[in-house]
Amino acid sequence: MTGADGLSSLRFAPIASASMDSGPNIESSIAARVFAFPQKHLIGVAGLSRSDALALLDFADALVAVNRQMDKKLGLLRGRTMVNLFFESSTRTQSSFELAGKRLGADVVNMSPRTSSMTKGETLIDTAVTLNAMKPDLLVVRHASSGAASLLSQKVSCSVINAGDGSHEHPTQALLDALSLRRAFGDVEGLKVCICGDVLHSRVARSNVLLLQTLGAHVRLIGPPTLMPSGVDRWGVEVSHDMRHGIEGADVVMMLRLQLERMQGAFVPSVREYFRFFGLDREKLARASPRVKVMHPGPMNRGVEIESGVADDPEISLIQDQVEMGVAVRMAILASLARRLENAQ
Ligand code: NCD
Repeated sequence: MTGADGLSSLRFAPIASASMDSGPNIESSIAARVFAFPQKHLIGVAGLSRSDALALLDFADALVAVNRQMDKKLGLLRGRTMVNLFFESSTRTQSSFELAGKRLGADVVNMSPRTSSMTKGETLIDTAVTLNAMKPDLLVVRHASSGAASLLSQKVSCSVINAGDGSHEHPTQALLDALSLRRAFGDVEGLKVCICGDVLHSRVARSNVLLLQTLGAHVRLIGPPTLMPSGVDRWGVEVSHDMRHGIEGADVVMMLRLQLERMQGAFVPSVREYFRFFGLDREKLARASPRVKVMHPGPMNRGVEIESGVADDPEISLIQDQVEMGVAVRMAILASLARRLENAQ
């Protein structure tokens, strides 16, 4: 199947690419591609160089083939322990990290505040220090406070991966978005990407702006003034408060969830009003480029920021690809951090 851009067939790439062995040889082929991450932790994409980001994406791209095989197990993290510490609810990010760790052969433990001593008053740092004494190698953390992952990384001896801290960063989301874009368009450089909606509360928007700029895309933020962070004029992106105008010529429209749980007070007059001006429907999308692709990090509020017909259209929506690429990107980052640890020992 070939789409308007002639590249949609990449979405149905064969199980193993021609340059890669399949079956039992795939493990040695993948092992030869492991990238040693330049830092001990992944707290954000800020500070990630273009060449390191591309090396990570190349490695993740190779892992997509593994995830499409019947036998998805590799031994790159055999003997390693990974702890998922999620203080905020999550479906796709937590299960994606869990699958990534397990497919690489690690022992994976899931912790959540509901089942940990946090409910008995233990602090974030105490919990982390206790877990650290059990000698994990990789600690994946999600927390409602910006800066939580960085704080933890200073208190533990293992590698820390930020799975979302407040409205600060969500680095693996930006990396999986970049991988989805690369597979859909061939390259991220030069793409016109509109990020639309609740930018104010979005760590996904922050990480994406940084990484897309590093990779050479043109970024435009679209949303009502009440949902734009102060200081956005210093982000080096275009800003539009009119979606019909802002979306013109876009190659990519990345929708953000209206984060009602983080809003105290009225940021939008009503959800119906919001959809009328900022919801993605066919009428607004018609103004974008003919090769446009639509993205959403999930979870989606259908009928609030995006119309179901658009979200579910396989010709234009990359939303399921994003979920698939999430596992590959997380496998890549876990294996790359573990390789760095090995090299440092
Ligand atoms: C995002 C998050 O938690 O930051 N979701 C995700 O990781 N898939 C975006 C959101 O919650 O809207």
